[in-house]
Amino acid sequence: MANRLPYTIRPAPGGAELRRAVGGLVTAVEPVLLAEGGVWIGWGGRTAAPGELPVNLAVPREAPRYRIHEVLLTAAEYRGYYHGFANSCLWPLSHLFVGRAVVRAEHWEAYRAVNRRFARAALENAAPGRLVWVHDYHLTLVPAFVREARPDVPIAFFWHIPFPPPEAFLVLPWARDILAGLLGSDAIGFHTADYARNFLRTVRALPGAEVDEEQGAVLYQGRVIRVQVLPIGVDWDAFDGTARRPAVRRRAEAIRAALGTPHILLGVDRLDYTKGIPERLAAFGAFLDAHPEYRGKVTFIQVGVPSRSEVPEYQEVRRRVEEAVGRLNGLHGDGWQVPVRYVVRPFSREELVAHYLAADAALVTPLRDGLNLVAKEYVASRVDGAGVLVLSPFAGAAAQLPEAVLANPYEVNDLAAGIFRALAMDPAEKGRRMEALRRRVREHDLRWWWDQVRSLLRVGEPGTATLHA
Ligand code: UDP
Ligand code: G6P
Repeated sequence: MANRLPYTIRPAPGGAELRRAVGGLVTAVEPVLLAEGGVWIGWGGRTAAPGELPVNLAVPREAPRYRIHEVLLTAAEYRGYYHGFANSCLWPLSHLFVGRAVVRAEHWEAYRAVNRRFARAALENAAPGRLVWVHDYHLTLVPAFVREARPDVPIAFFWHIPFPPPEAFLVLPWARDILAGLLGSDAIGFHTADYARNFLRTVRALPGAEVDEEQGAVLYQGRVIRVQVLPIGVDWDAFDGTARRPAVRRRAEAIRAALGTPHILLGVDRLDYTKGIPERLAAFGAFLDAHPEYRGKVTFIQVGVPSRSEVPEYQEVRRRVEEAVGRLNGLHGDGWQVPVRYVVRPFSREELVAHYLAADAALVTPLRDGLNLVAKEYVASRVDGAGVLVLSPFAGAAAQLPEAVLANPYEVNDLAAGIFRALAMDPAEKGRRMEALRRRVREHDLRWWWDQVRSLLRVGEPGTATLHA
């Protein structure tokens, strides 16, 4: 169960039209459902018109492997729960943009009500002994709601974004309700040891909860809840395999030839202020100013997938990105050749991998990010052992990828220097770094992640998973 289904649903004559949804959660979790079967309960990205029926069908339609169970939201629920509490309050707080958090009681009420509805949907689908696996910050109250009705059902929770320190989380008047909601689970997973530690430190504020930080466990209402560090991996075979296909390699060559510059940089993000896209563009400008020898020799492709576009902060970041692209192209282009190519639509897997293969460096430089799958996908796609990953230390993935070129997106010259370092790096060093990164990403791929989750979920049985990854 996650707020978002892996498809966006649009009513269409003769049935629903399904389009792929974009985001790290969908990329990571769908392969597990494809392999294991089950039911994905979630929202299809549309608000309910009166009389509208939710979709419940087997997908992928051409070769069904699991079912989607749509939860319909009214326009008011969508505003209060999704845009309001989840994305204007919990999201900025968790990413340490505390000043941006909109804290409003009516959003919280809508959030509670929608969490109740999701919990009811879980109960309708939970057969005895079947796991309820809840994902992300939209649905923190679901575990306790489900447990209240069905104490026998195993429940796991995965938190996909950063978990902030208590000083930030406890700004929320309803922080303790959220903690109690999450502790309805048997096990809770986070991407990094820092997030898990922040969570455990925050739980100390919940009356009646006993925390064992050493063991990664909480004792609450007579149950032990395990807290584990489990960074999501990529579907290695899918990315590595796609990158080896001759058609994809030809496409990568065609991209390079069409751009016509000796160097290519790539950024791939949802248009989210946490991703640091305006800061990255500013650093690219500073790099061109500092290194005029690269003018006309490097193209920066930025893919920006529109996201949460009814939240004002998202409209603002899109405007800032578009202004910055225009400014850079005006200042550094010559009327024919422009240094920034900006794409505002999602790429398919093949097109994405072809771009990963074509780019000399990927710029993954968020101001704060739970993990960032693009970083790992870039590495998994570099079957040629070339390419440099420029990575922000504030992406969860940085904890696992020390061979990347680390650059601080808050300091324009540091990031500009990171870009220069990546482009000027000697090929042997590039190869060494990429080889080490590929080993790490392959060893901790999606299969590894799912195996860990599976063993963790045999909660309470003797001889099961240890508490630390
Ligand atoms: N993605 C995609 N097409 C695009 C842009 C992104 O399929 O045009 C996918 C990308 O491959 C990655 C996900 O969207 O799997 C983004 O995940 P990430 O963890 O980087 O960030 P999130 O969007 O979850 O914050
Ligand atoms: C992040 C969140 C996911 C979310 C995705 C896309 O990855 O962790 O829960 O699905 O962003 O955002 P959206 O609001 O479009 O679902």
